[in-house]
Amino acid sequence: MSYRYITTPIYYVNDRPHLGHAYASVHADIMARYLRAAGHQVLLLTGADEHGEKIARAALQANEAPQVFVERHAQSFKEAWRRLAVKPDMFVRTTNPAHARVVSDCLTRLFNAGDIYLADYEGLYSIGQERFVTEKELVDGKLPEDKEPPVLRREPNYFFRMEAHREWMRQLLLDTPDLIQPVQYRNEILKLLEQPIGDLSISRPVDRLDWGIPIPWDAGHVTYVWFDALLSYVSPLGYPDQPAFADYWPSVRHVIGKDILRTHTLFWLSMTHALGIAPYQRLHVSGHLLGSDGRKMSKSLGNGVDPLEAADTYGVDTLRYTLIREVSFGFDGIVSNAVIEQRLNRDLADDLGNLAARTLAMAMKYRGGTVPAPKAYEAREEAIIDWSNELPGIVLALVEEMKLSRAVEQVMDFVKHLNGYVASSAPWALAKDSNASDQLDTVLYTLLEALCSISNLLHPVMPGKMEELRGLLGVSAEAQWNLPWGHGVRPGTQVKEGILFPKRPGAEHPD
Ligand code: MSP
Repeated sequence: MSYRYITTPIYYVNDRPHLGHAYASVHADIMARYLRAAGHQVLLLTGADEHGEKIARAALQANEAPQVFVERHAQSFKEAWRRLAVKPDMFVRTTNPAHARVVSDCLTRLFNAGDIYLADYEGLYSIGQERFVTEKELVDGKLPEDKEPPVLRREPNYFFRMEAHREWMRQLLLDTPDLIQPVQYRNEILKLLEQPIGDLSISRPVDRLDWGIPIPWDAGHVTYVWFDALLSYVSPLGYPDQPAFADYWPSVRHVIGKDILRTHTLFWLSMTHALGIAPYQRLHVSGHLLGSDGRKMSKSLGNGVDPLEAADTYGVDTLRYTLIREVSFGFDGIVSNAVIEQRLNRDLADDLGNLAARTLAMAMKYRGGTVPAPKAYEAREEAIIDWSNELPGIVLALVEEMKLSRAVEQVMDFVKHLNGYVASSAPWALAKDSNASDQLDTVLYTLLEALCSISNLLHPVMPGKMEELRGLLGVSAEAQWNLPWGHGVRPGTQVKEGILFPKRPGAEHPD
């Protein structure tokens, strides 16, 4: 058994979650479920980033005290994850006093070690991204992901000596080629690290912003939201001295979107290095989900799909499947209602649902619903058996690389192959031939056992539907990973008919 620690971004809780948030969380959840199925001791962390200017502003606009505002939204994130079958083991909130204590302790240690100093800062500040930005990053006077241009600010700030860690970070990236995946993001950061990166402003004066963790030695300042938020990856493990930290931290993988790549490399790697925390094992960086207009999906642009509405309309498992299958992790891609519906109708209803429905219907029709014992396997069954036995290893290797789209594609290729097997073995013809009864038993058993194996392989992606399938196959609801051929469905037991994925008649979509 080995420990595995996976984190989602700690979301700003200034609104309800949108599909972009669900994209990261569903990936992290599916990876966690696969690793757990494969026998690892897994911790999945998500949470709420509750401090900072963005939240303070949103609370003001909602005419609520920040604490009340974040409480309400943190709950709506928790509820959303429940409805999307994202099952975190821990939900960290940055307003939690235990977290604040860790932040204060880290600040104090760095200050005492001379890693933090006070200076005046003047620069362009993006409120949307909660950070100072450089001219080079601006397109038409603003960050592409922002609605408003940055504002000019001059104020005393505490600075963390980030630049001092630049050479170390560069070497780390060079020595650990798979630290940041996919590789284009590693290359982007390596390039950045060739030039000075400067020091990091880590405080805000309270007269401008008082919604944050106080700087322990100076009541005139609160902690910068990113310095606070990044530490929420370690505080829930009981950093620095609890066993959970020692157990889980060495395996940590952060799942993030590409817009927060710099904070998770320059900021976080230098912070951990200065604090004596080992660097993360891997950073999995996603691209962006785009709306049907081809722009980054966002609440403010109103070009997004509401994840909870989509889950209600198409089913939560269809949504989860589409999110990982449609857009390869690391790249940008469009997920609209039309796309979800197409995945439902084609992959899930026509391929997987159809395979299950026809197999179960034939088992009912020709064997009264009783699982037959297989007789002599021929070459085409042997090929299916080998494939089924190999798939868990293939899928898991892809999951380790966060290539979830390819992982499910492998299973869906198997599904397609089985549909071909139904056609070529023609059980309906075998049923008419009294000499082919043994052969029919073998074909039906092979299909039922292969379906059982598929229910194990796809359970992390579609837990609800795969449990439903297992119910129809008459096996335990709980999936079993890496079950050798012949240990799934049991001859003599009963199966039932059912439709797993009802097709949606091609509705008209504005998108
Ligand atoms: N609070 C910070 C993260 C702190 S982690 C220590 C934050 N929060 S966020 O709520 O704004 O964004 C969280 C994540 O959602 C980011 O990884 C971001 O990339 C992701 N997404 C937001 N919109 C997205 C898309 N349209 N597509 C894919 N992911 C996107 O940043």
